[in-house]
Amino acid sequence: MLFFLNHIAMFLSLLAIEVVFALGALAHNSTFQNPILPGFHPDPSCIFVPDWDDTFFCASSSFLVFPGIPIHASRDLIDWRLVSNALSRPEQEPGINTAKRATSGIWASTIRYRDGIFYVVTSLVYDDYPKNASNRFDSFIITSTNPYSSASWSNPLHFNFTGYDTSPFWDDDGQLYIPGTHAWEITPGIQMVTLDLDTGTIGPYINIWNGTGASSPEGPHIYKKDNYYYLLIAEGGTGSRHMATIGRSKNITGPYESNPHNPVLTNANTTHYFQNTGHADLFQDADDNWWAVALSVRQGPDGSYPMGRETILTPVTWNEGEWPVFTNASGHMNGWYLDPEDPIEEGEGSLVDSSVHLTFPPGSKLAPEFVHWRFPVNGSYVVSPAGYPNTLQLTSSLSNLTGADGRSAEPEGQTFIGRRQVHSFFTFSTIFDISTLHSQEAEVGVTVFVDQLHHWDLGIVLGSPSTPPVTTGYSGPSTSTNSTTLVPYLRLRGITTVPNFIFPDIAIVPMPAVWSNKITLEIRASNITHYTFSAGPVGSQGQMQDIGFAPGLGLTWGFTGALLGVYATSNGGAGEFKTYVSDWIYNGLGQVVD
Ligand SMILES: *[C@@H]1O[C@H](CO)[C@@H](O)[C@H](O)[C@H]1NC(C)=O
Ligand SMILES: *[C@@H]1O[C@H](CO)[C@@H](O)[C@H](O)[C@H]1NC(C)=O
Ligand SMILES: *[C@@H]1O[C@H](CO)[C@@H](O)[C@H](O)[C@H]1NC(C)=O
Ligand SMILES: *[C@@H]1O[C@H](CO)[C@@H](O)[C@H](O)[C@H]1NC(C)=O
Ligand SMILES: *[C@@H]1O[C@H](CO)[C@@H](O)[C@H](O)[C@H]1NC(C)=O
Ligand SMILES: *[C@@H]1O[C@H](CO)[C@@H](O)[C@H](O)[C@H]1NC(C)=O
Ligand SMILES: *[C@@H]1O[C@H](CO)[C@@H](O)[C@H](O)[C@H]1NC(C)=O
Ligand SMILES: *[C@@H]1O[C@H](CO)[C@@H](O)[C@H](O)[C@H]1NC(C)=O
Ligand SMILES: *[C@@H]1O[C@H](CO)[C@@H](O)[C@H](O)[C@H]1NC(C)=O
Ligand SMILES: *[C@@H]1O[C@H](CO)[C@@H](O)[C@H](O)[C@H]1NC(C)=O
Ligand SMILES: *[C@@H]1O[C@H](CO)[C@@H](O)[C@H](O)[C@H]1NC(C)=O
Repeated sequence: MLFFLNHIAMFLSLLAIEVVFALGALAHNSTFQNPILPGFHPDPSCIFVPDWDDTFFCASSSFLVFPGIPIHASRDLIDWRLVSNALSRPEQEPGINTAKRATSGIWASTIRYRDGIFYVVTSLVYDDYPKNASNRFDSFIITSTNPYSSASWSNPLHFNFTGYDTSPFWDDDGQLYIPGTHAWEITPGIQMVTLDLDTGTIGPYINIWNGTGASSPEGPHIYKKDNYYYLLIAEGGTGSRHMATIGRSKNITGPYESNPHNPVLTNANTTHYFQNTGHADLFQDADDNWWAVALSVRQGPDGSYPMGRETILTPVTWNEGEWPVFTNASGHMNGWYLDPEDPIEEGEGSLVDSSVHLTFPPGSKLAPEFVHWRFPVNGSYVVSPAGYPNTLQLTSSLSNLTGADGRSAEPEGQTFIGRRQVHSFFTFSTIFDISTLHSQEAEVGVTVFVDQLHHWDLGIVLGSPSTPPVTTGYSGPSTSTNSTTLVPYLRLRGITTVPNFIFPDIAIVPMPAVWSNKITLEIRASNITHYTFSAGPVGSQGQMQDIGFAPGLGLTWGFTGALLGVYATSNGGAGEFKTYVSDWIYNGLGQVVD
């Protein structure tokens, strides 16, 4: 139905464009809706590549989510398809498993194209290391000659830029410069080095600009236009004071003069639904019109934004010799006219906001939008194993989704697979076969997962009337091992570090004895602040029961955004088991944009 309406809307907007042409009016403009990449797609960087059929490509940050650095492509800036993941092999960046703390991992990535090669430049940050530790940052470049293939992305060339938000700029003479930022508490300001791509050797650091004086100058990108080097940066931190500012200089090493109209983009000190807007990148379309992408959050009335930092688009007017003028970001936008195009057909993944009904047919593979927290354990996720066609077999992990300390990789992994939440309103459900659960605290379930210390889980967990499943902290495997007395419970619980936040609705109820071994678990966003969790036996929609609800505010933390997925764990107890998931349904039901 939603798609049907979209088509009508598209048809009507085509009609509108025809009418405008017919009238010979000047208003050859497009309308579009933000965010263009909804859900956890922060720190966007985008390019326009005429050599590749006039296609736009964007990269976004992935932190400890793997596969990482998703690459999206579009020909009209409206329909975006996930075409590859630039990080898809653990050996590319083993640090994703060794870095501790949820704010670690792949920070902002910049994508560029030059002479037939796509470049992604980024840094893996070990955010638990001291701010002044020289091994806190692992900066690297990977390349591809086919962005529609994850396998085409190279292993990294590492270079010792001891900072983050690294971004490449090639000057007219071919010299490669990398601006980035050091840990700003230690050495403030935007730093730049030269880089030799053959050897990975960098030149001396030059502190080229400190921005306008707000905190955390970071996210630099350099553009050359009308004999000026323009330096676009983010300032104010990635929270409510976030903004994009710009400076320019006739010499790449500076000094950079600040735009008198800074900031060029911010929603700070407004009550706009789109908040924390900043960290932008600029590019031109086929008609040489300028656009910017930036990150933003859609902040609910209670301050929540569990989907995290999303990618927004805004038109930019940049006249010769003048400063660029960005249009303020909102949900409903007008922009430069672009010819309507069919969605990209190439690439490995789906349109970013598509709904799915996955039946795991034999011989099929999991699409690249399915992700794990850190590296998956090989063999723990098998599509249609022998004897269980049309299922996804999960092998349980010892560790639950939090793990021992909530900040480290678990030695034997954390069995979890999910997709980004990309709609304000959605339903997500899967069917679990629980006949294989036999030990106390054996658990399968669905989760809204932001990181190891921020997730709400609805599980089916074994306990006995004398030793029911624990409601809060796990206290070790139970001594009651008489499996004949174990019965399934439905347990809604979660974990958060959001200050003063109290989980409102811990629920633990025995599963009705008449329910079978095939259970549907469902999460839905029924309003813009809360998730509702429900369960029911398969094949009887009427019997779905709401088990409880939980607010997105407890998941509003850090740098990542909500993933919706499934997990299987023995919660520290003995008794690894396999479980079978089927009918994975994610239905997008709408976006709230103002
Ligand atoms: C078309 O969009 C551009 C970029 O936002 C804007 O500068 C221009 O005023 C718009 N034109 C009309 C007629 O709305
Ligand atoms: C880093 O900072 C800490 C605390 O200020 C200090 O003790 C340490 O010597 C510093 N290390 C380096 C490598 O500068
Ligand atoms: C990287 O550079 C820093 C100085 O910025 C230096 O302290 C460190 O030893 C270098 N690391 C390597 C591996 O060369
Ligand atoms: C940036 O700030 C530092 C410390 O406040 C100062 O030493 C440096 O000169 C400034 N850099 C520029 C380019 O203004
Ligand atoms: C840019 O500034 C640097 C440092 O002051 C200087 O060495 C260089 O000659 C300047 N380049 C140009 C093109 O003016
Ligand atoms: C854009 O936003 C800025 C900052 O909130 C505000 O000062 C300015 O008036 C806005 N411009 C328009 C055209 O609404
Ligand atoms: C927002 O308001 C704060 C507090 O008054 C001020 O420090 C900051 O500069 C303002 N930010 C912007 C982008 O206007
Ligand atoms: C898992 O398998 C892949 C591909 O076969 C391999 O590259 C990777 O090293 C394996 N990982 C582990 C932890 O064994
Ligand atoms: C998961 O297990 C750990 C210990 O292994 C425990 O501290 C934590 O409370 C458990 N709970 C959740 C919700 O993950
Ligand atoms: C396990 O429970 C059953 C049923 O309550 C009981 O008959 C049996 O003796 C128990 N076995 C052990 C080892 O406790
Ligand atoms: C959303 O739903 C929850 C649970 O029913 C309710 O407590 C909350 O007030 C609702 N929020 C809004 C904004 O309607």
